[in-house]
Amino acid sequence: MTRTFPFTSTLAHGDGIPDLTGKVAIVTGSNGGIGIETAYYLASHNCTVYIASRESQKTTAAHSTLLERLLKAKVPNAEKLLHILPLSLNSIAAANDAARHFLSLNTGRLDILINNAGIAFEVGDKLSQDGFEIQFQVNFLSHLAFTLPLLPLLQKTSVEHGSARLVNVGSDAHRLFVTPPEGGKELFGMEEIRTAAKPANGNSWGVGDIGGSGKRYGLSKLAVLMVTTHLSDLLEQEYPNLRIITTHPGTIATTGLGGGMGQFGIPSWVLGITQWLASVFYGGLSEEDGALSATWAACAEVVEKEGIRAGYWVPVQRWYGGAVRAIGEGEVNALSHDKETGKKLYDWAVEYIQRYTTEAA
Ligand SMILES: NC(=O)c1ccc[n+]([C@@H]2O[C@H](COP(=O)([O-])OP(=O)(O)OC[C@H]3O[C@@H](n4cnc5c(N)ncnc54)[C@H](OP(=O)(O)O)[C@@H]3O)[C@@H](O)[C@H]2O)c1
Repeated sequence: MTRTFPFTSTLAHGDGIPDLTGKVAIVTGSNGGIGIETAYYLASHNCTVYIASRESQKTTAAHSTLLERLLKAKVPNAEKLLHILPLSLNSIAAANDAARHFLSLNTGRLDILINNAGIAFEVGDKLSQDGFEIQFQVNFLSHLAFTLPLLPLLQKTSVEHGSARLVNVGSDAHRLFVTPPEGGKELFGMEEIRTAAKPANGNSWGVGDIGGSGKRYGLSKLAVLMVTTHLSDLLEQEYPNLRIITTHPGTIATTGLGGGMGQFGIPSWVLGITQWLASVFYGGLSEEDGALSATWAACAEVVEKEGIRAGYWVPVQRWYGGAVRAIGEGEVNALSHDKETGKKLYDWAVEYIQRYTTEAA
């Protein structure tokens, strides 16, 4: 970790978030978990926020809850700040449709796009309707299909308003669960991404298929980091004020993310104890804590002051009861430095996205 910025002077549970009046943000997966708290941080600082989530009762309830909280906090024009943008990341076509729907709203600007939605520890034998491993589809491919049509608006905003931010909620799993493939295999071998087979070289912990699913989750987050780093490199010259930042939220044991573990036949009491232990060891991080790193990447002024354009940023946290104190540069998987693979994966993904969206049209 080379650089650390304490929240005390920049951002801590809302303190120090600048006034975001006039700015427009989209937060994917903001009907619960870390996403809803991220949406709250932004909207409570007068940002217009689109809750980009699947059409469901959960999403309408999240909208009502957020509105109630904003009204309670006496945020002016709260009703006008919050909107729902229906978004399903189950397929490339659906994600692309959601982006086009947003563009049809003619907001004129998009200052912040936070790609936060995600799934983890889905069993390795699940494929999406497009035929990809499900975590790779939701966490990486569909998010890219959602982002690409929005990119010109982010670019335009960065030029006209001097700043725009594309933030990915990544995960340390990209580093912890992914090791170099053996036997000349490719890091993102299509034979693995397009099939249900358990990945070779998965870090098995000997519990059902968690090792395989964990690796696939890590791979999906590594793909996000590598491809958006490539995108950032591509755009650096022409759009220096468009910042593309990946974050890790910390370990928040109470979100829906661990829900998939039930599929492995682990009893709920074991999950309960595990969550409790994680919450003790990881400083009892709440969803609000978890939302801080993406919020920091999305709007902290220090990001511009320090000329931060990209990178992987993580909360600096204490063990045993400490809350998040600061954000710092995180350690990345050495594999993420492979620019050639980043470019290859980007080109490959763009080709698939084009093919699937043309077929759907
Ligand atoms: N919690 C942690 O410890 C932790 C650690 C590292 C990284 N993260 C990352 O943090 C982000 C937020 O996760 P969380 O912990 O807040 O988990 P969460 O409570 O399960 O939230 C996940 C969000 O993603 C949405 N989502 C899932 N599949 C979707 C799909 N196919 N289409 C549209 N939306 C979909 C969910 O909406 P539905 O309700 O409609 O499913 C929900 O809003 C994720 O990217 C996760 O990988 C979390």
